[in-house]
Amino acid sequence: MEKKELIKKALEAQQKAYVPYSKFKVGAALIAEDGKVFTGCNIENAAYSPSVCAERTAIFKAVSEGNRKIKAIAVVADSDYTYPCGVCRQVIREFGRDAIVIIAKSEDEYKEYKLDELLPHGFGPENLK
Ligand code: THU
Repeated sequence: MEKKELIKKALEAQQKAYVPYSKFKVGAALIAEDGKVFTGCNIENAAYSPSVCAERTAIFKAVSEGNRKIKAIAVVADSDYTYPCGVCRQVIREFGRDAIVIIAKSEDEYKEYKLDELLPHGFGPENLK
């Protein structure tokens, strides 16, 4: 799947965001090792702390369906380029050490990073062996 298509999926997922508190809609779409695509949006909660980011929604959907390897993940939000929070970077690290992270404003305007650039010297499953 092309990067543009992945961004399109993230933009579609963004529309599903449940954000009554921040009003800040985020969407994510990832492509797994076998080519399957999983999408996610941020889902907030009246108690605030149970809220979850779009990236983690997509990743947990993928993992819970048996897909543990992320090849690339695209993230879109309402404002300018929006980068994954630290917690999401750590969750991407767990399932996508070599993942490409696409930060997009639109299908044509995006930046691309290796996870390692966003989370250098990260802690991962290998460190526990
Ligand atoms: N958020 C995400 O979903 N992903 C990000 O990369 C940054 C922040 C969400 C969390 C919360 O619902 C809202 O954006 C404002 O922080």
